[in-house]
This record gives sequence, C-alpha cells and structure tokens, in this order.
Amino acid sequence: DWTPENVIADQVKKIREQVGDARVICGLSGGVDSSVAAALVQEAVGNQLTCVFVDHGLLRAGEREQVERDFVAATGVDLITVDASQRFLTALAGVTDPEAKRKIIGREFIRVFEDAAREVVARAGAHGEDVKFLVQGTLYPDVVESGGGEGAANIKSHHNVGGLPDDLQFELVEPLRELFKDEVRQVGLELGVPEAIVWRQPFPGPGLGIRIIGEVTAERLEVLRAADAIVRKELTAAGLDRDIWQCPVVLLADVRSVGVQGDGRTYGHPVVLRPVSSEDAMTADWSRLPYDLLAHISNRITNEVADVNRVVLDVTSKPPGTIEWE
Ligand code: XMP
Repeated sequence: DWTPENVIADQVKKIREQVGDARVICGLSGGVDSSVAAALVQEAVGNQLTCVFVDHGLLRAGEREQVERDFVAATGVDLITVDASQRFLTALAGVTDPEAKRKIIGREFIRVFEDAAREVVARAGAHGEDVKFLVQGTLYPDVVESGGGEGAANIKSHHNVGGLPDDLQFELVEPLRELFKDEVRQVGLELGVPEAIVWRQPFPGPGLGIRIIGEVTAERLEVLRAADAIVRKELTAAGLDRDIWQCPVVLLADVRSVGVQGDGRTYGHPVVLRPVSSEDAMTADWSRLPYDLLAHISNRITNEVADVNRVVLDVTSKPPGTIEWE
C-alpha cells in the first residue's frame, strides 16, 4: 500500500541501516526535493545530520528566512547558512552572457559549498567523528533520465559526487530515488515540512541572476526582488499558485522607457511577467491571467518599485520562447 507514512517508515529504516552512526551532510536549496530529503534523514538519524544552505544573494524575498526559520522550526535540523552574496556579485561583475552567468554561479556555488563542507568535516573530526554521507534529493525521473539504472547510479554513489575534490568524498544517501514529485510533496507534508516549501514552484538554481537581462548588480537585484515579491503575493492571493507552473519576473535592466509618475517624467526600466502553464517545463503555454489581476499587479509594481515604470506581459509559448528569458 502506497502511503506517505509507509514510505517514511521504510526510508527511515533504510537510512539508519546505511548510515549507522556516521555523520551526514546535506546541501539545502530551499526547494522541495532537498528539503524533503533532509527532513527524511533528520527523521531517521536526527542530529547526525548537518545541513548547509548557501545564500548566493540571488534568492527571492523571504526565501532565506523560509529555510533558516520555518524549515528549521519544523524539522529541528542543524543548519549552517553561508552568506556569499558579495562573492557572487564580485564574480558576476560585468557579465551579461546568460551561459557565462550560469557557469560562474555554478562554479562559485560548488566552491562555497566545498568550503562549508570542509568546515563541517573538520568540526566533526575534532569530536572524533567521520562525515561519510551526502544527502541528495534525486527523484525517480532523475534516475531514469540520467539513463543510469542501478549500475550507473551505484558507480556514481561511491565515487566523487558532482565533481567534489578528493578530500571530500562522500557516499550518497538518496531517500527520494523511488518517488515522483507529487509523492515527494505528500511525504513532505506528512513530515511537517512547511507548505510554502512543499508547494514551491520551480525556481532556477542561478536564481534572479538569470532574470536580470544585463549585468547583475545589488541595486538591480533589489528592484527585481521587490517586483517579484508583489507578483508572487498577488498570484497567491488570487488562488492561482497551483494553476500556474511558474511566473518568472524579468528585469530589462538595459532598457529604459519614458513614463509619467507622480509629478513628472521618469526614465525607468520595464519588468516582464512570464506566467506559464506546463506539465513538465519541456513545453509551455502563456497563462491567460485575468485582466483585472494583471492591472492590479501592474499598478502595484509601478507605484511601489522605484525605477520600474512599465509592466509588460510575455504572450509567447514554449517553443519558440523558453520559460526563462536567459
Ligand atoms: P527554460 O527557460 O529552459 O526553463 O524553458 C525550463 C525550466 O528549467 C528552469 N531553469 C533552470 N533551472 N538551472 C535550474 O536549476 C538553470 O540554469 C535553469 N534554467 C532554466 C526554468 O525555471 C524552468 O522551470
């Protein structure tokens, strides 16, 4: 019988058998998969687990708090947050090419995570303990997609994980390997993971860094974060979260247009709303949001977010457009 309770009982047993009394590390992203995987391991081995959350400064409003406060309160995990915003901004200075941004963000992310992992290992070592395991939120579709089957996955799980250096060799703990996304959500709810995390829409790893068309700067991030927060709040209030796959908000940072706001002429930036409906992100259609809602969102953004004087709607399907603009 498939129930979330049975999955949890089964996985808790398996995790305990695999891990024994060794220490375990887990990188949290704020997304559903890593959160539920961490919650399961916490349920199984409690304070043998240490989670690491890298704040790359490209997160949306409230996301760090959601992990640091709500997730920790709900699960009791031992969490280390690394604030690396400045480091990412420095690395991204002057960069406008989308793939270059992705490469830089990915590279810095791994470096910061490695440093944090080394610290966890050193700290445990000082107590005579060994950090042997790394939790990954791999789902069943990921297993199938990587074409692996058992063999390939086993080879990977005993070797260098995701290109980590030699001194950071871990064995993988993958408690979601047999689950589909909707099952992961049920398990998460059963474990008490906050609903805002369980139902979070897809959000790209490079975060707001690929939603600023042009160079990423602290000021631009602040503008985009404010506009994005309004959009998310209004979509949620309208009850549309589960109808919409995701809604990127994109800042056209190098485009200016003339507007009239308050007492005079402005020369600000447009933001693009990109609400899409989709089954799997491979194809997508633009969501037909109610006009009144669009009007309300547009009014709020142009009234509340300095530097934005125009809100435009992306009415392109995928293909030919991708969901993200970069
Ligand atoms: P596109 O823009 O290719 O996006 O239609 C498809 C889905 O993938 C997400 N996406 C990413 N996720 N790193 C990620 O983790 C990335 O670099 C990345 N680029 C796009 C996007 O949000 C959508 O859900």
